[in-house]
Amino acid sequence: MFLAKINSKYFIQIVILAIVLFGVTVSKAQFSKDQKPKNLKVLSPNIEGEELKKIMQGFTAALGVKCNFCHDDSKAADFGPMDYSSDVKKEKQVARTMITMVNDINSDLLKKSREIESDIGEVACVTCHRGASHIDMLEDILFRTYKRGGLEAAFNRYNDLRKKYFGGYTYDFRDHTLLSFSSKVSDEGNADDALAIVLKNCELFPESSPSFTFLGDLYLKRGDNEKAISNFEKAVQLDPNNRFANGQLKKLKNPEKK
Ligand code: HEC
Ligand code: HEC
Repeated sequence: MFLAKINSKYFIQIVILAIVLFGVTVSKAQFSKDQKPKNLKVLSPNIEGEELKKIMQGFTAALGVKCNFCHDDSKAADFGPMDYSSDVKKEKQVARTMITMVNDINSDLLKKSREIESDIGEVACVTCHRGASHIDMLEDILFRTYKRGGLEAAFNRYNDLRKKYFGGYTYDFRDHTLLSFSSKVSDEGNADDALAIVLKNCELFPESSPSFTFLGDLYLKRGDNEKAISNFEKAVQLDPNNRFANGQLKKLKNPEKK
């Protein structure tokens, strides 16, 4: 037993060492000045070495992926070399069209815009991707998950994404995201689920006037005027200038005046 433990520890160390050494050798080999890229079709063919490495690292950061998202690593499992020039992965092919798109936007459309307004910057991969390969809005991801797997699945997805991305720039975790998710669910006619989503949002954002406005509105739709009023009141308490909640309160408290 004891021996087996030591052996496995030793083994793991060797594997880690191999990966580290291997990784270093591979990237050095790939980016060495004398080894020119063989298959650049959209990047300038003069790009190589450190410059190419920076561009590629930029792609991984912009999309929140590793090199093997676009490059074939099927041989790497056997410690074979990565073949970066291979075009087998469709992600690499899409990335090529994306590079062309970004170049066209910057060299043509944005250049024209800059003639009108000089303070216009450039587009990069990260401008759209913001650390994710799929660039949907969080509410759309949640809604798709909801339609496939129901409310619990959507909440689990939300919690997972929040754990991973909160505080970054990939997804917007402010109060309005769950509110628009709730609206989509409500439009589908699922009033109970729409309510559960807004209740979760009020828990996450107890200071959010819009959240309690939504809650009031959902109770109003269900004919629960008492709860509608108390939530509109809470919304006004959090933001005295909340015009919608103020208006609803006026109507609810003086029904004749309308
Ligand atoms: C989002 C997709 C994407 C990611 C991620 C990515 N690459 Fe690339 N890579 C490409 C594309 C596309 C090309 C080809 C560009 C062209 O055709 O001009 C390329 C070309 C290369 C080449 C030149 C290959 C040759 O011989 O022509 C190397 C080397 C390379 N990438 C290394 C890397 C490394 C290392 C990483 C990780 C740090 C990485 N790439 C991450 C898309 C990607
Ligand atoms: C103007 C916005 C925009 C810019 C800039 C942009 N992309 Fe994209 N990209 C998209 C959209 C939209 C999709 C489709 C995303 C989806 O399916 O959710 C996409 C998808 C991709 C995919 C396919 C992802 C997959 O899962 O198959 C790759 C790879 C990619 N982009 C790479 C890049 C690279 C590399 C750059 C910079 C050279 C870049 N993109 C710049 C909008 C953009």
